[in-house]
Amino acid sequence: MRPNSVFLQAQCLLCVFVGVCVPTVVVGSLPHALPWHVSCPVRCVCQIKPWFSPDSVYHEAPTVDCNDLLLTRLPLPIPPNTHTLRLQSNLLSEIDTAALQALSNLTDLDLSQNRFSCVRTITKSSSLSSLLSLHLEENHLSHLPDASFSSMPNLQELFLSHNNLHFIAPGAFAGLDSLLRLHINNNKLTTVDPRWFRALPHLEVLMLGGNPVESLPDRGFQALKSLRSLVLGSMGLRGLAEKALEGLEGLESLSFYDNKLTKVPTQALRRVPGLKFLDLNKNRIKLIETGDFRDMVYLKELGLNNMEELVSIEKGALENLPELTKLEITNNPRLSYINPQAFLQLSRLESLMLNSNSLSALHQHIVLSLPSLQEVSLHSNPLRCDCLFHWAAEEASHPHTEETQTPRMVRFIQPQATLCSEPPDLRARRVREVSSREMSASCLPVIPTSSLPSYVGVREGGKLVLHCRALADPQPELYWVTPKGLRLGPVLSGTSKGSPGPDPCHVMTVSEGLNQTTASSVSPSHTQDDPPCNPSKHYRLLPEGTLEMNKVTLSEAGLYTCVAENTLGADTRSVTVGVHGRVKKRKKGGTVNLKGYETVRADARLEVREVGQHYAILSWHSGHNLPSTRLSWQAIYSNAHTPTYTTRILAGTQSFNLTHLQAETFYRVCLHLGTSEGGKHGSRRSRESRMPQCISFRTKDVPEPEPSLQISPELTSTAVTLLLLALILMLLASQSWDTEPNKGAGKHHITILQEIKSPKALIINQITEGSNKNQPKQSEKLLVYQGC
Ligand SMILES: *[C@@H]1O[C@H](CO)[C@@H](O)[C@H](O)[C@H]1NC(C)=O
Ligand SMILES: *[C@@H]1O[C@H](CO)[C@@H](O)[C@H](O)[C@H]1NC(C)=O
Ligand SMILES: *[C@@H]1O[C@H](CO)[C@@H](O)[C@H](O)[C@H]1NC(C)=O
Repeated sequence: MRPNSVFLQAQCLLCVFVGVCVPTVVVGSLPHALPWHVSCPVRCVCQIKPWFSPDSVYHEAPTVDCNDLLLTRLPLPIPPNTHTLRLQSNLLSEIDTAALQALSNLTDLDLSQNRFSCVRTITKSSSLSSLLSLHLEENHLSHLPDASFSSMPNLQELFLSHNNLHFIAPGAFAGLDSLLRLHINNNKLTTVDPRWFRALPHLEVLMLGGNPVESLPDRGFQALKSLRSLVLGSMGLRGLAEKALEGLEGLESLSFYDNKLTKVPTQALRRVPGLKFLDLNKNRIKLIETGDFRDMVYLKELGLNNMEELVSIEKGALENLPELTKLEITNNPRLSYINPQAFLQLSRLESLMLNSNSLSALHQHIVLSLPSLQEVSLHSNPLRCDCLFHWAAEEASHPHTEETQTPRMVRFIQPQATLCSEPPDLRARRVREVSSREMSASCLPVIPTSSLPSYVGVREGGKLVLHCRALADPQPELYWVTPKGLRLGPVLSGTSKGSPGPDPCHVMTVSEGLNQTTASSVSPSHTQDDPPCNPSKHYRLLPEGTLEMNKVTLSEAGLYTCVAENTLGADTRSVTVGVHGRVKKRKKGGTVNLKGYETVRADARLEVREVGQHYAILSWHSGHNLPSTRLSWQAIYSNAHTPTYTTRILAGTQSFNLTHLQAETFYRVCLHLGTSEGGKHGSRRSRESRMPQCISFRTKDVPEPEPSLQISPELTSTAVTLLLLALILMLLASQSWDTEPNKGAGKHHITILQEIKSPKALIINQITEGSNKNQPKQSEKLLVYQGC
């Protein structure tokens, strides 16, 4: 039902009851109707009314309005020069065609909302050569035979929507050479037959939506050389063949509203280079990927709204769209990430609508990369008022804005509703009223909850896709950790505090696969039945942080953790993956394997790999993803109580460089293995599964420091000789003390280092155990120089 006609109907029923039915639909900004003095059929209204031809030319049209009269037959007599005859919303199932034929000037015939089930009852024998517009919406038509409308050779508009059409003969539209507009939306068609359109060389607008067509044929619209607008909404389309739109050379406007597309049909869109308006709203697209919209040089407006599953807009998703002026990406409840370089070369974009998503920020890069941007809408997003939003902060706090013209010129749509939701002390403040000083300078990575659910179920043998995104400044690095503790992601590039350590499975693309050498060298302690890095497994880590796995097996169920890390810190988020077995159908809903999730027996052997004076590299190996692991350490002195330090270990990390240690000191380090993250699943009790693993070591001794004393230039050669002599004596003495070879056992020992930076200086440094700020200094520095 068309809403306006329902409304009209309701209104007129009311009016009929009162006795006056004034159709109010055309009234408004249009010119008023004029009186038309003819003998009008009973209860109908005859007036001269404004009428616009399909090509928008204004006419004063003698109009007979017999809408909503419960008519079962054509009311007579119809004035002979009738131009528009309205019979909407009656009970007609057939019509006196001879009477119609007499109306030589009949241009517009509205038979919508009646009971026609056969189109021949209207078109048989009569020739309505003046008819330009025929309304047959909301009737009971179920099929259209060949040449259904051949008696209307000049028809320009044909409205057949909301019928029961399930069959249209290949030649149904034969003879409609002049047809400009065809609405066959909301019927029961399951296929699109390219032959329908061969008779319609001048068609400009085609509405096909609302038919249960799951796929479109290749070159199905090729005959429609003049088509400008194609509406394919609500059809259940899951994808689009590469050549589905081929031949639509003049197409300017295309709508895929409310379909089941899971990807932007990039290849198909390349066949319609003239497109200006594109509507992809309400589809199942998860990602707008690199190159999805590229080089569509005439595109003016793009709609990517109301997508339940859209999580991310990737780098270069929109590129080189020189005419794009309006971009709408709104009401996408899971959209939490727009890459700072998502929009490239959009030189004319003026209006960017991003309200009602899950965005935490709009990166300054985006604003700066859009030179024509005038307005942005960001309200109803969980905005983070930190360094990512400095560009939007109060103008006054930007003294350096003159050089760049862009960010400050941008107008916020609904600024009073554009509020900070983070950090807590700025919550509910208007973004535009927060000063730059109040916004923190640091931007830790945050993985938005909306991008990654806490549980994902997948069929055994199916494909698992997990999306993880994080915005931060500097740009964070993302990696994944599998239930078996494998780390999947780019090699650490020195940003991590932990040492590079073993990088179990560095996987970049599926084509690269896994190198057997890498796999085995990385996990030396893996067992036969539990290979930590199965080379045949096809993991795929997309550049922006999506993990894909094909042919998931039951043993791959468990906890997957995404880690986003930059130089300032890290954020992690875990998702439990359940694998539904496909064999056991007897049990309701099949089986769900969460193997190892509740029953993780976390185990790891802690080792000291390397010890320096001020650092120690610890490593361990675990066959599990342990997202809440901690490392604690404490200096051990016999006579002093020292604080214990703790650090969180990021999932997938299997080694750690403890830094800032005191030299020559004993340390005790413990690894506390965690099994789940933040107590979100399972009981808190199970988060740390067992007694910590502990180990002790001693840091190395401090070598000779740099010479720190200025030597007076008047040293004599005699003094140097004396000095050397003293040194030799001391060396001899020290050798007698230092007979014990075990250096780490805490015995006193002396390291003597000579460093003669200038021939006139000699520094002897004697070091003993436990040089430490907290301790009484046990080391002595013996400096020998002239006159000593
Ligand atoms: C049809 O319209 C033309 C031009 O407006 C007019 O001259 C002619 O009389 C009309 N025919 C009838 C039957 O009224
Ligand atoms: C560990 O940290 C120390 C001190 O920051 C550094 O000198 C050393 O190179 C680091 N070792 C590794 C392997 O990263
Ligand atoms: C596997 O890794 C080794 C050592 O890293 C390398 O030399 C070799 O080329 C790799 N092989 C393949 C097929 O990538």
